[in-house]
Amino acid sequence: MCGIIGYTGRMAAQNILLDGLQRLEYRGYDSAGIAFFKENTGHISVRKTAGKVMDLRAICDDENLSVCGIGHSRWATHGGVTNANAHPHKVGDVVLVHNGIIENYHHLIEKYHLMGQLKSETDTEVACAVINANYNGNPEEAIKKAVSELKGSFAFCIMFSNHPGEVYAIRNVSPLVATYAPQNGSFLASDLTAFIEYSNKYFVLPEYHILKMTKDGITLNDLDGKTVEPEYMTVDWDVSTAEKNGYNHFMIKEIHEQPDAFERTVGPRIKDGMPDFSDDNIPDSLFEGIKDITVIACGTAMYAGMVGRTLIQNKIGLPVKVEIASEFRYERPTITKDTLVIVISQSGETIDTLEALRLAKSRTDRTLAVVNVKGSTIARESHYVMYTHAGPEIAVASTKAYTVQVAALYLIGARIGVLSGEIENDAVREFIAKFRQVPEHIKSVLQMEDTIRMYANRMTNAKDTFFIGRALDYTLSMEGALKLKEISYIHAEAYAAGELKHGTIALISEGVPVIAIATQSNVYSKVISNIREVKARGAYVILVSKDQEIEDNTVCDIHIPLPDIDDELTVFESVVVLQILAYYTSVGKDINPDQPRNLAKSVTVE
Ligand code: G6P
Repeated sequence: MCGIIGYTGRMAAQNILLDGLQRLEYRGYDSAGIAFFKENTGHISVRKTAGKVMDLRAICDDENLSVCGIGHSRWATHGGVTNANAHPHKVGDVVLVHNGIIENYHHLIEKYHLMGQLKSETDTEVACAVINANYNGNPEEAIKKAVSELKGSFAFCIMFSNHPGEVYAIRNVSPLVATYAPQNGSFLASDLTAFIEYSNKYFVLPEYHILKMTKDGITLNDLDGKTVEPEYMTVDWDVSTAEKNGYNHFMIKEIHEQPDAFERTVGPRIKDGMPDFSDDNIPDSLFEGIKDITVIACGTAMYAGMVGRTLIQNKIGLPVKVEIASEFRYERPTITKDTLVIVISQSGETIDTLEALRLAKSRTDRTLAVVNVKGSTIARESHYVMYTHAGPEIAVASTKAYTVQVAALYLIGARIGVLSGEIENDAVREFIAKFRQVPEHIKSVLQMEDTIRMYANRMTNAKDTFFIGRALDYTLSMEGALKLKEISYIHAEAYAAGELKHGTIALISEGVPVIAIATQSNVYSKVISNIREVKARGAYVILVSKDQEIEDNTVCDIHIPLPDIDDELTVFESVVVLQILAYYTSVGKDINPDQPRNLAKSVTVE
């Protein structure tokens, strides 16, 4: 949550900060602000406002030639969405932006006698005051003393008024990446999309290290003052990947990127027709002898885990549990040393998932992270990592990341199946051959975009909707319901079709949309019976199935036929239908699907 950025160099900082914040806006878009040194004097100016980055742009000067500044895009945690609570915050000589939560701010207000002196309701201003109180002209010393008193998560980007041209940073848990590009200067940000235009190299700021940036370079010291060499990585995508490229929204662009994302994730992991993770340095010993699997994740990543669970458990007969990370952390774990723990996260920074991983590591040496963002905390802290190669996902509602997460789980399942002897090599080869065809199938579904868009018009006035299915279709419908509710604000509930009659069917009345997914042959006729039950009570049924024609057209109001594919692979087709349906419902309601209210893409608070 919250995006932060810092720049110092020879170029005008204002636009670098504003453009960077625009790219970071997916992390939070309640308020925005920048602070900058006025023409290299010791005077720091602040511009900030409740609203989006475009509102901030409107209050910035056209002629601003400052070459050093910091910026922030906020997702409110402490204190409402007001101008005063927007970052940057300034106390005495210190100006800073913050991503995270300072848990002991009450105690610090008392200790530093700040009551009545603060201008905002934020924990951030308290941290700013603590740094200022410890400041005697030496920024590093002040930061070091202050962070020794802070409890919680933080990424700070800080300027000191009598150190023009310098930007400092430190972090605990919350992400920060940085780079020095000799031609362009020094940059840091919550995510490298903010500065990829200027450098394709970056490093992850290690926790509790102080970064000092000037126009001529950066220095990184640990808290004992020892200089540390940053570990630079190279980005394998360019700035155009993080732009809309002619699409109206990132979400629809990312929906269209799924065939390529799938191929990038799956292709390199198939060798001689079999799943092979040697390039990931994931040894077979990780999977050999496991007794069960626990998948831990949040949101869409957790729903990807639900699909993986159904597939792996049914194919291999291994017990698979899917845990909501925020719940798992406070329950008694059932993990043993023979449990394979798979942690899934697009960002690799979700705090609950990260803490759940840390707990899991206290029980087993077999943790495997399925992560999209290279070098992210979850990727670095798990024993092994399998990167999904979806490229940057900017829209808050996850689409391509889900597809590649499911794909990764299918590959992991196939590898475990081979190693455990539960699946014959030939059967795996046959499966993999069909699996490789998935991108072509997704492309066929994408061609139905205009038709599905028409159907979405029917949804815009709905108050409640239900997504039903059985087996893999049920697990998929959870993701379909999440997509719709998060970007259209329509109440959407996923239900196992056979369970409806035990209560939820009471909510079905005339015209309530029910999106029924019926792609699994072994339960097909049962789902059709369940559909008849809701239809008989007035539901407006949108049926997604592999039938090319529906014999009895009284069964549904709309039928969306999927290209023929094996039952276990239909999820890759159906999810695209549900994503497009949600997208156009959102657009039809005049909502910006990329930035739905109250949500943020990367949830780094508990
Ligand atoms: C937020 C996002 C979701 C995402 C979830 C987990 O809620 O809005 O799109 O699925 O966090 O994020 P992660 O980065 O861990 O996959």
